Amino acid sequence: MTDHILIERRGAVQIIRMNRPEKKNALTRAMYAKMSAALSEGDADPTVRVHVFLGVPGAFSAGNDLADFLVIATGGEGGNEVWDFLMALAKAEKPMVSGVDGIAVGIGTTLNLHCDLTFATPRTLFRTPFVDLGLVPEAGSSLLAPQILGRQGAFALLGLGEGFSAERAKAAGLIYDVVAEDALEGALLAAAAEIAAKPPQALKIARDLMREPREELVARIKVESEHFRERLKSDEARAALTAFMTRKKG
Ligand code: COA
Repeated sequence: MTDHILIERRGAVQIIRMNRPEKKNALTRAMYAKMSAALSEGDADPTVRVHVFLGVPGAFSAGNDLADFLVIATGGEGGNEVWDFLMALAKAEKPMVSGVDGIAVGIGTTLNLHCDLTFATPRTLFRTPFVDLGLVPEAGSSLLAPQILGRQGAFALLGLGEGFSAERAKAAGLIYDVVAEDALEGALLAAAAEIAAKPPQALKIARDLMREPREELVARIKVESEHFRERLKSDEARAALTAFMTRKKG
């Protein structure tokens, strides 16, 4: 199992910490698998009441590991880890909160659309350059982002790939609050503790009501994933991924 994902328990709070700082928390297949397992095990464990996602200082996540995408783009196998994680997010039974500091690209942004509360620091930039990579939105973001941001805000995020600062994200309803870097973890854990102290059955019903119909979300993720897999093999994607992996840093 990878140690690029660290799982911690603080009372009823399960912390899922992405911890691959040398690659800005780009997510590998092993990392997705460990996060999926943590979500399903936490959901099945009555002593867990809330899931928390955190990254490292300056990097929540730079998105899917582009080397893994390039493998698929050049004819290799992809595996089911990403799909399993997206299903775990869409079907999670317990509240999820996230704390985002710095880089939040691709799934580093869209993961938060599934969270019940997201805190971000002033230096955070949310960005989803799917189209620039020759790809399409994933993780249900083509459904969730228009619901949250309206059609034009969603187009700015998902179509144009515009960056959303933490302030812009808060004003747009994409996140719950902006907190200083050194206050992030404290604010997140305080919110998680507040959630964990609520009557769990009432909270579950309330949360389920706010998330209906989940079948629609799952169906959208399926359609997105079919397009995504096709797009990965396109000339547009192959060129963009190769350009990133072979870029020279100045
Ligand atoms: N996949 C694989 N490796 C990645 C990565 C990704 N998504 N994002 C960053 N890395 C790697 C870099 O290649 C670099 O590795 P190296 O030191 O071995 O060369 C390391 O992480 C640090 O990244 P670097 O680009 O030097 O950091 P930065 O602070 O200048 O820029 C980003 C950070 C996130 C803006 C930039 O790395 C980037 O644009 N990454 C791609 C993001 C992306 O398109 N994600 C997919 C969305 S679907």
